[in-house]
Amino acid sequence: MNVHQTDFVVIGSGIAGLTFALRVAEQAEVVVITKKERSESNTNYAQGGIAGVLSPEDTFDLHIQDTLNAGAGLCHEDAVRVLVQEGPRQIRRLIELGARFDMERDAQGNPVLALGREGGHSRNRIVHYADQTGWEIERTLLEATRHHPRITIHEHFFALDLIIRNGECVGVWVLNTHSDEPEAFFARAVLLATGGCGQVYPHTTNPPIATGDGIGMAWRAGACIANMEFMQFHPTTLYHPGARSFLISEAVRGEGAILRLPDGTPFMEKYHPMKDLAPRDVVARAIDAETKRLGIPCVYLDITHRPAEFLRQRFPVIYSRLESVGIDMAREWIPVVPAAHYMCGGVQTDLYGRTSIPRLYAAGEVACTGVHGANRLASNSLLEALVFADRAALHACDAGWSQPPTDSVPTLEAIAQAGGVSEEAEQEGVRRRLHEVMHQKVGIVRKLASLEEAAQQLQLIAQQAQAAMQKEPHRVEAWEDWNLAIVGNLIVQCALRRHESRGLHTLIDFPERDDVNFKRDTVLCRTDRG
Ligand code: FAD
Ligand code: SIN
Repeated sequence: MNVHQTDFVVIGSGIAGLTFALRVAEQAEVVVITKKERSESNTNYAQGGIAGVLSPEDTFDLHIQDTLNAGAGLCHEDAVRVLVQEGPRQIRRLIELGARFDMERDAQGNPVLALGREGGHSRNRIVHYADQTGWEIERTLLEATRHHPRITIHEHFFALDLIIRNGECVGVWVLNTHSDEPEAFFARAVLLATGGCGQVYPHTTNPPIATGDGIGMAWRAGACIANMEFMQFHPTTLYHPGARSFLISEAVRGEGAILRLPDGTPFMEKYHPMKDLAPRDVVARAIDAETKRLGIPCVYLDITHRPAEFLRQRFPVIYSRLESVGIDMAREWIPVVPAAHYMCGGVQTDLYGRTSIPRLYAAGEVACTGVHGANRLASNSLLEALVFADRAALHACDAGWSQPPTDSVPTLEAIAQAGGVSEEAEQEGVRRRLHEVMHQKVGIVRKLASLEEAAQQLQLIAQQAQAAMQKEPHRVEAWEDWNLAIVGNLIVQCALRRHESRGLHTLIDFPERDDVNFKRDTVLCRTDRG
């Protein structure tokens, strides 16, 4: 049986996909498709935590203001309000489902959530589970789905393309990687929850699944994509030949770590009044500037003033990972560099997760809800996924979409050629060449001439990737390369349209922020969609 019909299809089993699935399953059948094991997701590796106004010393207005400040004038204030005001209820719902966040005692001795601090936050508001918050959330959500009678999860099913009929999304073509056969899932509505695209860069905190498949599929289907120039580089990933790009959580700076040059000089005070806890774009640019100025490969994070016992308990994963490469963070500085971490742009959605294609919703990192603007505030991403996936689920249940008629499944070759046959000869090493271009020409600090060169090179790489996929449509990596090449093109096309520097987009040809001309989203919509 390779044609399936259900009420809702969810692509992705991270925080966004599972949150949506659990909500719609209160009244309907839902199928979750996921390309590896069900827990494999960016969510699973989230370290720092999830932001929420949960302390009597905090207010919605402060969290809103911090989010708007980080977003450098581009956040949609209505979306930020929704995020901040609905956030605490969603975090409590996770706790009701069984999430075990860290607790402490208040002045009266009552147990309360232990709230951490991260860059750009004016209050302690980060709920966490040591440095494994994402793992705990993923565990909780998966446990809740485990015996749910209305939720079916298909592991090792790779979503290839969305099924569009009369301009509406009615399902998804999937490669069943157990049988190597294509299958079709038809549904009243589809949620894209495919996560991020960090793998478009050679150095990233993201796991290998983060190949921008949702953005590739949505773009091919004709959905509008926004703000792809705003790739967030996390300032502090381990610089070590044996463990590149392992994240050293911002929560380490939240516990007092200081960024230092090799001679010990702290440097963040030169760049921002919040020093080491400045918003992420500021810290990443500062590290980039200092390493270039001094010709050094990395800077150092120093938390040696905290006792080993505290560090082992607060950061068990980071501590042991560092130990495994011979660094004792209680006694030695940690060498760090920035790496690609989070895509603030994505498939454009409204406050209910609706995309520009009827019946297609998007939530989580794949979506651009308007919450993050030009730079995401730390730990707002898990929160955004929770809040907007839930809103999308409620909307999808109430929208009254009817069951679409099903269709037979085309051959894999036909699915691979549905968008046209690539004229280019396929080439080896697509991913490596893509990485070279993105690393050299589309990094933290950009130049117009380099972006223009990148645009030309990436267009060719995308055509070659498409040809390679069409030659071997059974190979998941070939589809992923094609999706990544589309993502790379979208990043560059958005970057080329923004002649200013704002948030995560720094263009040396236009070093100032230009609110007169660019206080708006960069939105790309294909005009040739069928
Ligand atoms: P994901 O959790 O990435 O899930 C995507 C799912 O889609 C996966 O199951 C994947 O297998 C599946 N998928 C993708 N493509 C396909 C396809 N073609 N077919 C089928 N399935 C597919 N944010 C915070 O707020 N706080 C933090 O502390 C934090 N720390 C982080 C630390 C690290 C190391 C990383 C990488 C990110 C961190 N983030 C953090 C960001 C946050 O984790 C992510 O933005 C968030 O988890 C994304 O959730 P998601 O559900 O959208 O996507
Ligand atoms: C971190 O722990 O530094 C990551 C937090 C985030 O990406 O929000």
